[in-house]
Amino acid sequence: MHPQESPADFRSDTVTQPSSAMREAMAQALVGDDVLDGDPSVQRLERLAAQWLGKEGALYVPSGTMANQIAMGSWTRPGDEVVVQRYAHVTTFEAGATGALHGLQTMTVGDLSGSMDPSEVEEVIRPVFIHCPKTALICMEQTHNMAGGRISPMSRVEGMAAVAQSHSIPMHLDGARLANAVVATGIAAPEWCQHFDSVALCLSKGLGAPVGSIIAGSEIFLERARVMRKRLGGWMRQAGHLAEAARIALEQNVPRLAEDHALAKHLARALAAMPGLSVDVEAVESNIVMVVLGDGLPDAAGAIQSLEGKGVRVSSMGPRRLRLVTHMDVGDAAGQRLLDAMKDMVEGR
Ligand SMILES: Cc1ncc(COP(=O)(O)O)c(C=O)c1O
Repeated sequence: MHPQESPADFRSDTVTQPSSAMREAMAQALVGDDVLDGDPSVQRLERLAAQWLGKEGALYVPSGTMANQIAMGSWTRPGDEVVVQRYAHVTTFEAGATGALHGLQTMTVGDLSGSMDPSEVEEVIRPVFIHCPKTALICMEQTHNMAGGRISPMSRVEGMAAVAQSHSIPMHLDGARLANAVVATGIAAPEWCQHFDSVALCLSKGLGAPVGSIIAGSEIFLERARVMRKRLGGWMRQAGHLAEAARIALEQNVPRLAEDHALAKHLARALAAMPGLSVDVEAVESNIVMVVLGDGLPDAAGAIQSLEGKGVRVSSMGPRRLRLVTHMDVGDAAGQRLLDAMKDMVEGR
């Protein structure tokens, strides 16, 4: 790598730099005190996001974790239970917030493939019985991060909605990467979201905004969600500067996700052909590639170190599992650098 060259960073789709259009919009943003009497740029983003998702309204919040936790707290009471995929972000990467902040327990279902079968969920719904917690919420994740960006098909979402409705349980979607699912399937966001009572959408992942997520739903839900946002300290003041970049992300960067998906598939095929690496090419449905390192190769920590030395960054999701994420700041040239560095690694160079 040339000393001035920046690394090809496949650790996450959160590493992107704001585009010049975003920087320009941020500089020009009309702003106000969003807590006191509203910020016009935040309100504009919230209207746009609500429309894109097909929901009555939306709130702009600092992170995807906060968007999910606002939903957890808004739909439940302490002592309730939430049904969630075993490897979901909510259970794995939110530092125990569901229990620590809202006094909830989680009932997890499914495996590392991201599976979450409606009949499996129906089985774990608690009876109305004084000794049992109330099953207060069902939460799905689309696309599924730990499962390598896998997409829950519409038939599963419809099946889950039928189960939820028959038990009068609300459904929340952690749609951090819902835009990837929209582009990969050609199914518009409102079609997915009609099955959910609340939806979280990250603008700072593949869409490339520097900061922020959306939590959307009905006006009745949002009344509770606003209180929860306040309690969690997530209500920002002149946040219009950030909201303007997020608006550009949602307006301009959805269709280009197809490029990220094509690169992910290309990398998956090429890596699957390298000795010692296992990649489930069929499972690569969006912008994430999971690579399992076989015996005889370095473990994930060793592989990360070897790749770093060649100007390529990846992350690990287990002792022998690497995660590569494509995004707008890694194109074909970065992809080739990754393949060359991986080839060197498997050949012991
Ligand atoms: C599926 C999923 N949900 C939620 C989040 C949380 O987003 P944030 O890092 O903005 O809190 C992430 C972040 O990686 C994610 O992958």
